[in-house]
Amino acid sequence: MDQARWSDVDQYLDEAVVGSDAALDAALADVAAAGMPAISVSPALGKLLHILARTVGARRILEVGTLGGYSTIWMARAVPADGRVVTLEIDPSNAAVAAASIARAGVADRVDIRIGRGVDSLASLMAEGVEPFDMVFIDADKQSNPEYVAWALRLTRVGSVIIVDNVVRGGAVADAATTDPSILGIRRMNEMIAAEPRLLTTAIQTVGSKGYDGFAIALVIS
Ligand code: SAH
Ligand code: DHB
Ligand code: MG
Repeated sequence: MDQARWSDVDQYLDEAVVGSDAALDAALADVAAAGMPAISVSPALGKLLHILARTVGARRILEVGTLGGYSTIWMARAVPADGRVVTLEIDPSNAAVAAASIARAGVADRVDIRIGRGVDSLASLMAEGVEPFDMVFIDADKQSNPEYVAWALRLTRVGSVIIVDNVVRGGAVADAATTDPSILGIRRMNEMIAAEPRLLTTAIQTVGSKGYDGFAIALVIS
């Protein structure tokens, strides 16, 4: 099995099972046109986020790492018209591309893009005393994952679900001797969530158009 085959099968699954539409396709086209890296979630993972949000009846979703808003659109479509997706992005030019794609998708009324360092925006949300989030999707700089999960625990409630993207990174995560700050961030986060009695957690490795990677899912249980 190799990358070409994983991509072929992902393309087949996108067409046969996942589906797409003009707004999602245009969001990805604009990510590429803006010169942003092709690191939006795959269509299959985007739809999984959408399904998870609907499964937990999410009204409020927090995302760390917006890029071009592709995952944001999938999740915004899962919340009710008076629901909210708050998405945090450090790069103002990424946020501008995302805002345009989110508006074109017709969900700007339920998306709040906050520009700044993720940890700063999370501290602000906490200080504002926002209502708890029903779902959190963590997909930004990997070295900050332990901090993002710590904030997610403070900003959720029992029954909320926390998803963390990119926890496998081509298998690099299993290298106990790594000195790569991103991999160390993922490993420290894994240790943290595994030791956290308030979380029930699993992690799944995936292959597809985005290579060999994976995601973790944690349910807040207390
Ligand atoms: N969730 C997006 C992809 C996000 S890519 C999707 O699937 O469509 C990661 C994003 O995190 C990038 O846009 C990057 O600019 C942003 N990012 C990186 N470091 C950050 C930080 N410290 N705070 C907030 N966002 C950050
Ligand atoms: C990277 C970040 C991501 O969120 C992702 O899904 C893939 C790659 C990166 O920074 O390399
Ligand atoms: Mg990612």
